[in-house]
Amino acid sequence: MSARRLDQLLSNLGYCSRREVRDWLKAGRIAVAGKTADDPGVKPSPAAVRVDGEPLDRPEGLLLLLHKPLGLTCSHDPREAPLVYDLLPPRWRERNPVVTSVGRLDKETSGLLLLTDQTDLVHRLTSPKHKVPKVYHATLDRDLPPGLAEVFAAGTLRLDGEDAPCAPATLRPLGPRTAEVTLIEGKYHQVRRMFASAGAGTVLTLHRVSFGPLTLGDLAPGRYRELDAAELKI
Ligand code: URA
Repeated sequence: MSARRLDQLLSNLGYCSRREVRDWLKAGRIAVAGKTADDPGVKPSPAAVRVDGEPLDRPEGLLLLLHKPLGLTCSHDPREAPLVYDLLPPRWRERNPVVTSVGRLDKETSGLLLLTDQTDLVHRLTSPKHKVPKVYHATLDRDLPPGLAEVFAAGTLRLDGEDAPCAPATLRPLGPRTAEVTLIEGKYHQVRRMFASAGAGTVLTLHRVSFGPLTLGDLAPGRYRELDAAELKI
């Protein structure tokens, strides 16, 4: 990224507005390369900036692995609160580019969700070209019908209202009414709609257990950890 002005850098990282940066400079709260700064227009290396003596907060970007709990929405619209972004520190919620989810999980779906402010990463990870496998555990309101794995694997299952069929998916029964489903795409409500389109009933619970090589490990619902991009292996 090309060098940003100090006022733009701090407002992009969610510290305060560009207008407020001038007040912070006057108050002597900002230093560049060890000296108290007074010019909002300088274009410093982010590593050289200190606010109240502290290095900048994640100037290189954020990449988070969240255990999404049930009942939270993957939206920035406050009318749909509570939002997954409510789980983040306030400063991260003010960043520009905004921290956004890589794809979405329904309000009533739990499990692994990636959050990032790196737009190129969102495109790369959600592009059908990359075929990132996403694994879900689903509980149904009835027993799994025989032959359902073949229907999911065929690549011919059409969701209600869509022309293109779903890409082949893997279904592995885990019990009479529970199954593991692996998808390489991410259509709206896809797992729920696949069961419905196949005449296999209603999904009662849905949990995403993995995304590519990533799993939740022992991360509790509502908690997140920072990820190293190398962990994505894509
Ligand atoms: N499929 C769904 O139906 N819902 C999700 O949240 C994810 C996949």
